[in-house]
Amino acid sequence: MTDVTLSSKNPTAVKAEALVVATAQTSDGVAVVSDQLPTDLLTQLESLAPQLGVTGARDEVRKIPAGPKLAAEILVLTGLGERAEDGTFAIETLRRAAGAATRELAGIKTAALALPASDDAEITAVTEGALLGAYAFNQYRSAGKSTAKESGKDPVGAIEILTPLHKNAKAKVAAERAEILAAAVHAARDLVNTAPNELYPATFADAAKAAAKDVRHVRVTVLDDKQLASGGYGGLTAVGQGSSRGPRLVKVAYTPAKPNGKVALVGKGITFDSGGISIKPAAGMEAMKSDMAGAAAVLSTVVAAAKLNLPVAVTGYLCLAENMPGGNAQRPADVITIYGGKTVEILNTDAEGRVVMADGLASAIEDGHDVVLDIATLTGAQMVALGTRTSAVMGTDAVRDEVKAAADASGELFWPMPLPDELKTNIKSKVADVANSGPRWGGMLNAGLFLQTFVGDHPWAHLDIAGPAFNEGGAHGYTPYGGTGVGVRTLLGFLEGRAKVS
Ligand code: BES
Ligand code: MN
Ligand code: ZN
Repeated sequence: MTDVTLSSKNPTAVKAEALVVATAQTSDGVAVVSDQLPTDLLTQLESLAPQLGVTGARDEVRKIPAGPKLAAEILVLTGLGERAEDGTFAIETLRRAAGAATRELAGIKTAALALPASDDAEITAVTEGALLGAYAFNQYRSAGKSTAKESGKDPVGAIEILTPLHKNAKAKVAAERAEILAAAVHAARDLVNTAPNELYPATFADAAKAAAKDVRHVRVTVLDDKQLASGGYGGLTAVGQGSSRGPRLVKVAYTPAKPNGKVALVGKGITFDSGGISIKPAAGMEAMKSDMAGAAAVLSTVVAAAKLNLPVAVTGYLCLAENMPGGNAQRPADVITIYGGKTVEILNTDAEGRVVMADGLASAIEDGHDVVLDIATLTGAQMVALGTRTSAVMGTDAVRDEVKAAADASGELFWPMPLPDELKTNIKSKVADVANSGPRWGGMLNAGLFLQTFVGDHPWAHLDIAGPAFNEGGAHGYTPYGGTGVGVRTLLGFLEGRAKVS
C-alpha cells in the first residue's frame, strides 16, 4: 500500500513529483485553497482558471506543470466545490477530493498533499481519502504490475500530508488508524475483484486464515462441507450442493483481554451467484463474482478491529458457497432445515443469499452476542429502491439507528428501511415455516423479514449493499471501478462506538 507520512514542509519547497492543492467555487470564480503558496502564483492560477478548465467543482482534478516557483514537478488541482455557510468544507468532501486526486496520481512515485488538514477530523479525512483513492487491481495483467499502459499503473508510491499538526500525538494516531482502515478496505476490494475461478469457498477460507495470520487475539475456524452437513447447517449445504466446490462456514473471532461487549458480524459470501436452477440471464452475470462482498467486508473489519486493539470482542461469520446449477443442485420446491431447526421452502434458487445467511445468523445467535449485524449483497430490489450508491439498513430500531450514525460518520451512504409486520405474508409457505422468496414488490423488505425469522427480537441490523458493493460504472472520488469495499468503514465505526461504551 501507498506509504503515508505527516510533515510540516512548506508546499512551495516540498520536493515531490506532484503537489496537490484544493480549488473551490466562489461567487466570482475559482479560489485556490492555500495560504502558503506565493500570492502571485495564486493570482495567476485563479485568473487562468477558465483557460485551464478549472472550475473548482467536486470530483474535478487537473494536472499542470508546477512552474519555477515550486519545487514539485507537477501541480494537481482537486475541486472541493462550494464552501458551507460556516466557511468550511464537509469532511466527506475533503475525503473525496483527496481520493479523486490520488486516483489521478497512479504511476507517480511521490506526492505531497497541501489540503486543509488543521485538526484531527481533517487529517483523518485527507489520509483516508488519499489512501482509498490510491488503489489498483492489476493482478491479472500479463505485462506485470508496472506497465506504461494507462490502465495498468501502480498507485502513487508515497504521500506526504502537509499539516501544522505533524508532531501532534492525536494526529499521528488518526493517520495510523486511517492506514489500517484503508488497508482493510483494499483487502475487501481485492477479494471482490478476484476472479471466481480462483476465489471459491475453500480458497476464501484460506484467504481468511492468511489475513488473520500473526494478528494478535484472532482465531479462524473453518467448517467444511461435510461438517456443515452433519452439523445441521442446511442452508449452506443446500445452496452449495449444486457446485463442485463445497461450502464453508468460517468463523473469525477477535477476543481482546477485557472486552466491552461482544458483537457478531455475519457476511454473505456467495463466491459466484449463477442463480442456480432458477438461473440468471447471461447479460451482467459476470458482476455476480461480487456476491461475496458482505463476507469480504466482515473479514476485513474483524482484522482491522484487532489491529486497532479495539476493546470489543467480535466474531465474523463468513457464509461461503457457490450457487451453481449442477446435477446435485437444489430445486424450487425443495424443503430444507436451517441450523436450529426452522424449515424453508425453496421457491427460487436465486434467492440463495438469505438461505446461507439464515445458518450464519442462527449460529451467531446461539453463540451469544450483545448485538448481531449482517451484511449482504442480498437483493436487486435494493438498487431499485436506493440506486447503486446508497446501501440500506433495517433491523431493531436502536441498532438500525446506531448503524446509520456510524455510516454517516464514516462517509458511507446508508439509508434506513422498514420491516413492516404486514409484509410477512409475502414469505409465507404453504408447506414449511417460511418461503425463501415472495412477490416482487418490496423485495428488499421481504428478504429482511426472512432474515428476521432467524433473529427473533434479538438486537440486530441487516445491511443490504447489493448496489454499492460493486462499481460497474466509472471511478469517482475515492471509489474505483469494481469492488468498493463498502461496509468496512461503517462496521468499523460501529465497533469503535461499541468499544467506547462499557
Ligand atoms: N445476489 C443477488 C442480488 C443482487 C443482484 C446483488 C444484483 C447485486 C446485484 C441475489 O442472490 C438475488 O439473486 N436476489 C434475487 C431475489 C429474488 C429471486 C427473490 C433478486 O434480487 O432478484
Ligand atoms: Mn441470487
Ligand atoms: Zn446472491
